Amino acid sequence: MHTTLEQIDRLAERIRSRTGLEPHIGMILGTGLGLLADAVEDASILPYQELPDWPTSTVEGHSGRLVIGQLEEQAILVMQGRVHYYEGYSMAQVTLPIRVMQRLGVEILIVTNAAGAINPDFVPGDVMLIVDNLNLVGMMGLNPLIGPNLDEFGPRFPDMSQSYDRQLSASARKVAEDNEIDLKEGVYAGLSGPSFESPADLRFLRLAGADAVGMSTVPEVIVARHGGTRVLGFSGISNKANLDGNTLTTHEEVLEAGRILTPKLESVIRGVIGLL
Ligand code: HPA
Repeated sequence: MHTTLEQIDRLAERIRSRTGLEPHIGMILGTGLGLLADAVEDASILPYQELPDWPTSTVEGHSGRLVIGQLEEQAILVMQGRVHYYEGYSMAQVTLPIRVMQRLGVEILIVTNAAGAINPDFVPGDVMLIVDNLNLVGMMGLNPLIGPNLDEFGPRFPDMSQSYDRQLSASARKVAEDNEIDLKEGVYAGLSGPSFESPADLRFLRLAGADAVGMSTVPEVIVARHGGTRVLGFSGISNKANLDGNTLTTHEEVLEAGRILTPKLESVIRGVIGLL
């Protein structure tokens, strides 16, 4: 089913009734990165179950709650856990939280995810600034904007030439440099999952220009950009993609990498918010 404005506004109203803050920044924490929410001060916590229609994650490594509070003296709304298309949710459900954020006045969305490295220079524990994405799921017909256009948010045919905000990305580079964090950069390929890629899939993605691969983010970013929200994106590299077919990829290593990645990501994100 498609999302309706009534559904979105019902959720926005419910969230508004639970916090005195008006966050202009939203953040989505990817697999294994949920601990970042602990950085939020004076937080109001809303379990997703208390929000009508809000999709609830079924995946280990994603707790399902909204954390609304302050980070670097800015009001922020954090999704501690997201849902994925592979869980059986529709694209409309996967991206419903973005619409709600937009109605709440969120102007900047920080997206994070766990990803496999395709670029041979990347190692697990690296943070990659997402400079662009390959919308492979969308190319197969699963674009979250399919269906009636929500004119209140944006046009039928939105531009995607600058999905990831150049100014925010420049801030991230500067913060990383100042803090001596080796911030990688690259293109994120969004697949549906849940199976990891075959070696042939990975060789194809590498030829197509991808540096990292994962199972989320792209639909959310498309909906964010449709509604004019500025986006900053990071992939936490959790594993080397298995181009040679000689190593296995497991969810456990993805979760383990998240523990190493969290402090680095936190420094960069805090720094960027501090510069706003
Ligand atoms: N492939 C797809 N998604 C992922 C990976 C991967 O190797 N690692 C973490 N998420």
